[in-house]
Amino acid sequence: MTDSSVTPISWNHHELVLLDQRILPAQESYVTCRDAGEVADAIRAMVVRGAPAIGISAAYGVVLAARKQQGEDPKVLEADFKVLAESRPTAVNLFWALDRMKRCLLELGQVDAEALEREAVAIHEEDLQANLHMGELGADLIEKSGRGNVLTHCNTGSLATGGYGTALGVIRSAYKRGLVEKVFADETRPWLQGARLTAWELCQDDIPVHLIADSAAAHVMKTCGATWVIVGADRITANGDVANKIGTYSLAVLARQHGVKFMVAAPSSTIDFSLTSGDLIPIEERDEDELKSLQGINIAPTGARAFNPVFDVTPAHLIDAIVTERGVVLSPDLDSMAALK
Ligand code: MRU
Repeated sequence: MTDSSVTPISWNHHELVLLDQRILPAQESYVTCRDAGEVADAIRAMVVRGAPAIGISAAYGVVLAARKQQGEDPKVLEADFKVLAESRPTAVNLFWALDRMKRCLLELGQVDAEALEREAVAIHEEDLQANLHMGELGADLIEKSGRGNVLTHCNTGSLATGGYGTALGVIRSAYKRGLVEKVFADETRPWLQGARLTAWELCQDDIPVHLIADSAAAHVMKTCGATWVIVGADRITANGDVANKIGTYSLAVLARQHGVKFMVAAPSSTIDFSLTSGDLIPIEERDEDELKSLQGINIAPTGARAFNPVFDVTPAHLIDAIVTERGVVLSPDLDSMAALK
C-alpha cells in the first residue's frame, strides 16, 4: 500500500495491524487491533497518527465491528461509530471516513462486513492515489520557483497516510525531479514526529535531511536558502484556513517575513466545507506529561503546569498554495476554495 518500505497500516480481513509510531525509530513493533474499541485506543494513544492514517484506521475499525454483527440492523454499530469518533477531535479525515462508512452501511440496509471492507479498502487505496497525484502537482509548483532547500514540519509521509505522503509526498516527487537539494525537518516538539518519523522516512529513501530544533526555523529561512515550507493539514476550512501540527502557524509567519513560499498539501478528505473559518476548528489539547517528560524522565519541575495544544490554525492569507488531488488553489480564500467542492 505504500511507495516506500514502510507499512504502517496492514489489513488482513480480520485484524488491523499498526506499526507502533510511539516507539519509532528505536523499535519497529506492531499493535494488533481486533475490534473498534482497540482501534479507537490506538488512535487516541497515537500508535497510528496523521490525519489520513487515522481516517483509514477508523474505517477498518468499522469493518472489525461489522464482522461481529453480520446481517444485523445498521443501528447495532452506532456505539462503535461513536467510540471511533471520540478518539481524536481535530483531523476531519476521521469524521469524513466514518461518515463514508456510515453512508455505505445505510445504503446496504444491514450489516454486511464484506461490502464495508471493500469501502474501507477503497478509502485506503484512494488516499495513496491522491498522494501520488498531489506529489506531482506540488513538484510542478516547486519547478516554477527553481531548485532549493525545503523545510517541513511534523510527519506527513507514508506513516501518516495511506502511503507516499502529502507534504512528504510532494518532497519525494520534487526530489526525484532534482528540485530539492536538502530537507530541513523540524523536530516537532513535544511528540517529535519530525525527529523520530520524518527524518526516519527520509533516511530510508536516501533523501538528504537535516534535523533542526523548532526554534531554528527563522535562522534557517534567513541563512540556508530555504525556498518552500511544505506542510500537511488536519482540517482546512471553507475559507482556506489550515489546522495542522502546533508550530505550523509560526512557520507561516516566519515564511512570509523571509519571502519563503508556504505550501499545504492535503487530500480533499481534509477539507471541511461545513466550517467557514479556522476559528471554529476544535483544537486538541493533550496530556501535560507530553511536555513535561521525555521517555519517562521528568524535564520540568513537577510543580509547573503545562499547556499542550497539539494543533494551531494558519490563516489563509499566509498560505501561497493548497495542493489537493482535485487541483491547486493559489492564495486561498472563500471563492478560490469553492473550486475544490
Ligand atoms: O498529532 P499528529 O501526529 O496526528 O499530527 C499530524 C499532523 O499534524 C500532520 O501534519 C497532518 O495530520 C497531516 S498528515 C498527512
